[in-house]
Amino acid sequence: MPKTHQLQIQITVFENENELSKQDLFLLNEARKASERAYAPYSNFWVGAAIELQNGEVIWGSNQENAAYPSGLCAERTAIFSASVRFPNEIIKTIAIAAKPKGSNDFIAISPCGSCRQVMSEYENKQEKPIRMIMEGADKSIYILTSIADLLPLKFAKESLNL
Ligand code: THU
Repeated sequence: MPKTHQLQIQITVFENENELSKQDLFLLNEARKASERAYAPYSNFWVGAAIELQNGEVIWGSNQENAAYPSGLCAERTAIFSASVRFPNEIIKTIAIAAKPKGSNDFIAISPCGSCRQVMSEYENKQEKPIRMIMEGADKSIYILTSIADLLPLKFAKESLNL
C-alpha cells in the first residue's frame, strides 16, 4: 500500500518590521535599498537582495533584465554569485529580499523563484551550514526561514548525480 507523507517546513511570521531584531531589520533595509539598483525596464518590478556574510560584509544584488528575456537574472542570484566571487570561502549567514513596482514606495510580498531556490540550495550545501532567509510577506508582515532547505523540499543536489 502506498503511504502519504506530510512534509513540514518552518516559517516564522513577524507582524511587522518592528518585531525584527536590529540586525535583521538592517539587512532587510539593505535589500530594500538594493532594489533601487534594479535594471528592470521590461517588468518594472524592482527586486533587491542583501547577503550578510560571517565576516560582516554585506553584498547586494538586484534583478538585471535583458531584451532577450531569459538572459536576465534575479536579484537573489546576482547577490549570491557576487558573494561567491568576492568571498569564495566565507559563510553566508542570511539573505534578505525585497520587491516593489518601479517608482512605488511600498514593498510587496516576494518569494524566490524556483531557479533561485536551487542556486541558494547549492551554496547552502557547499558551506554545510544553513542560510537564513528574510522576505517581505503580505500586509507588511515579514517571514523568516532558518534554512533554504525549507524552500526546496525534495531538492536535487550533488548526491542525486551519483558521481
Ligand atoms: N525576480 C527576482 O529578481 N527575484 C525573484 O525572486 C522573483 C523575480 C525578477 C526577475 C525579473 O527581472 C522580474 O523580477 C519579474 O519577474
